[in-house]
Amino acid sequence: MKCLVIGAGAREHVITSALLRDPEVESVVVAPGNAGIAALVQCVPIDVTDAQAIGELATELDVDLVVVGPEVPLMAGAADALIARGIPCFGPTSEAAFIEGSKAFCKEVMAEAGIPTAMALVCADASEAEIALGTFGPPYVVKDDGLAAGKGVVVTSDRSEALAHAESCFAVGGTVVIEEFLDGPEVSLFGISDGTTVVPLQPAQDFKRVGDNDEGPNTGGMGAYSPLPWLEESVVDEVTERVLQPMLDAMKRRGTPFVGVLYAGLAMTTRGIRVIEFNARFGDPEAQVVLSRLVTPLGGFLYAAATGQLDSFARLRWEPGFAVSVVIAAQGYPADPLLGTAISGHEIVELEPDITVFHGGTAQVDGELVTSGGRVLSVTAHAPTLSQARERAYAGVAQIKIAGSHFRGDIAQNACTTDS
Ligand code: AMP
Ligand code: GLY
Repeated sequence: MKCLVIGAGAREHVITSALLRDPEVESVVVAPGNAGIAALVQCVPIDVTDAQAIGELATELDVDLVVVGPEVPLMAGAADALIARGIPCFGPTSEAAFIEGSKAFCKEVMAEAGIPTAMALVCADASEAEIALGTFGPPYVVKDDGLAAGKGVVVTSDRSEALAHAESCFAVGGTVVIEEFLDGPEVSLFGISDGTTVVPLQPAQDFKRVGDNDEGPNTGGMGAYSPLPWLEESVVDEVTERVLQPMLDAMKRRGTPFVGVLYAGLAMTTRGIRVIEFNARFGDPEAQVVLSRLVTPLGGFLYAAATGQLDSFARLRWEPGFAVSVVIAAQGYPADPLLGTAISGHEIVELEPDITVFHGGTAQVDGELVTSGGRVLSVTAHAPTLSQARERAYAGVAQIKIAGSHFRGDIAQNACTTDS
């Protein structure tokens, strides 16, 4: 099988590595890729917002499967362009990807499907926002309705900060979703879907805030681990039955079946499971800790999803043990990441067994590896216990030098107990 992967982050790096482990996959091309991916396979430039260009490239390369990594090309219609050419695509059409593209639309489908989520109000101006903030009380949760790469959400007990975020969205013509605060730990669960059938992967936990102890602004994700030793096994079945399957059924009923990764961001609240959000793709950095432990060949699995054949798919196989990934972010991330900074030490870490350095924002400039994005590297380690995986990941991080960079020191810390 010949595959084309669209995207340029650490998520696309781990997808590529997993595809290359599949004996049925004869070649992988990535567009546009990054310096880390280019060390594995051929990368070709592309504008990921240009759906026709993605279709043309897939035709030219004569690929059997296209895997679209990020939400931006999905929203721009990459899957639609590929389907029109008869090329199997793992990733939803732009209409189905709208579950991520609009938080208000997502809430509407959840309500229709009876999926447990936070109570929410959609607001179009400051007076509506005032009413909504008063309705739910602190802590306030204010979300930009459109795509914001995980950075459009403000959770704060400061009412004026909450209102200021809403007003900054109104100022550019947007709407906001203001909702009830959900307490409890978060879980990311990916369901691989062919539009009808869903196969859940192992759960992961992501660390969204930039600083230790969940301080500072939200980011795309600063680290992750999987599986979750504290989560009861029955939760995956419960989420599949109460969240993933009803969402897919609702999308199918609407005439916009969802093919790809249905990513449920969940809060394990004192009142039960609640959906925080749905995304239309693998999470980054959760993909790094989930896909790197998947033993089932990824190419065949995603091809089955893209071609409506998941019902015949047997149980997934996983590597035993745990994976921990720590993101090294560029100076200034998330507000204003500094690009073009030299990176060193990664080559030594890459030689170590059980550690993989997935590249997020890297480029080769004049023979030197430099930062080209906010989340530069995802240092991912595997070990029989969570504590060992954590230690290995941080030992790797310590050897990598990027001036002004930062990382969280507490990824997976609270989940490490003496027996895991
Ligand atoms: P989202 O873009 O909706 O995933 O939100 C980003 C992050 O904001 C989530 O992962 C949570 O950490 C936080 N968040 C979003 N909605 C809520 C909520 N209703 N209650 C508490 N935290 C939330
Ligand atoms: N790590 C969160 C996300 O990919 O949206």
